[in-house]
Amino acid sequence: MKKEKRQSLNFDSRAVYCPPDEATKSISPPIIMSSSFQYDAEIFQRIIDGERKSVNIYGRCGNPSEYQFEEQMMMIEGADACLATASGMAAISVTLFGLLKSGDHIVCDWTTYSSTHEMLDHRLTDYNIETTFVDTANPDAVRAAIRDNTKIIYFETIANPSMKVAAIPPLVEMAHERGIIVICDNTFASPYVMRPLEWGVDIVVESATKFIGGHSDVIGGAICMKSEILPKDFLEQIRWNTMVKLGAPIAPFNAWLLSRGIQTLSVRVERQCQSAAILAKHFENHPTVEKVWYPGLASHPQHDIAKAQMPKFGAMLTFDVGDGDRALKVLDNLDLSCFSASLGGVRTTTQIPALMAFLDIPKQERLEMGISDGMIRVSAGLEDVEDLMADFDAALALL
Ligand SMILES: Cc1ncc(COP(=O)(O)O)c(C=O)c1O
Repeated sequence: MKKEKRQSLNFDSRAVYCPPDEATKSISPPIIMSSSFQYDAEIFQRIIDGERKSVNIYGRCGNPSEYQFEEQMMMIEGADACLATASGMAAISVTLFGLLKSGDHIVCDWTTYSSTHEMLDHRLTDYNIETTFVDTANPDAVRAAIRDNTKIIYFETIANPSMKVAAIPPLVEMAHERGIIVICDNTFASPYVMRPLEWGVDIVVESATKFIGGHSDVIGGAICMKSEILPKDFLEQIRWNTMVKLGAPIAPFNAWLLSRGIQTLSVRVERQCQSAAILAKHFENHPTVEKVWYPGLASHPQHDIAKAQMPKFGAMLTFDVGDGDRALKVLDNLDLSCFSASLGGVRTTTQIPALMAFLDIPKQERLEMGISDGMIRVSAGLEDVEDLMADFDAALALL
């Protein structure tokens, strides 16, 4: 099928279709495990002439299994270009180190994944790159934070763990008027729930480890781009000047697992969103639960924005049981759901953000980010939702 035709298909068809392998006609793509590739005089000349992606040079520079995954990511994100990376954090680091120079400034949401926050708040400051943290759901706060040297506005489509949803159009408008690049981390939503490039965002970073892989068995990341501001070959530039130099390529087998995950993304996430919505309603009416954060609930502060931007509200939710000890007691007594790091897999996973992902962030800072001690974050999986509710109810009854 021609690429243009595939691009014109609906999401599910774009995700499932995979061109047959040219050499073997296998409909499941081969995994090319080689770290090195044999040259001949003609290939060697092409490399010398600067032809790079179409010639296999060395595993750290690129690999056919990686290109296959990048092609599929482009299809599901609606991107013009994609660069796969070893992890979600590699996607974020490569993007930031590829774009920023000493003296640049970033405006970033208060609540992002903890390692992203730390990278901006501590690591990049060592290179004279400053970040102002604001509430990106408040466009006035973002406008006030922009400086002459602001290069990037950064946020997560559904923020971790507050489930905050920023209105994208005003952010894109104010950024593009000033030549600022908009980057968003779409990990919590997944491209099934939200495709930020369709809303004018310039770069989307994803931890493919989560919903895209979907089975808690692979680490990987992707940078997808569709931008009027950045050069068309920007991702190829950062492949060579940043990703290859930092040594952050995805492993071939991981790329293959992620390509396979994309093919079932819709059916998994559709069902996971349904279960998350049922669980959120259930917790909202639960006597032991103090508060629930889920974009699909009318009580969620950005419910209307979420409704306008997303056909689904995602498979992630958070609820509060009062304090860290109570949260730990609940998670320690779950049988069906799994108390573990990460999210987006077929099994329901739970964690306590204050004691896990955000443990290294000082308490006051964490509370300002809206992360209370008693929060429990849930990634809804594919188990029967009645069984899940019974599992949570049994654990909550012990409080
Ligand atoms: C929103 C978000 N972005 C990025 C990452 C980093 O992804 P990875 O673990 O694949 O590096 C995570 C990890 O949990 C995350 O939750």
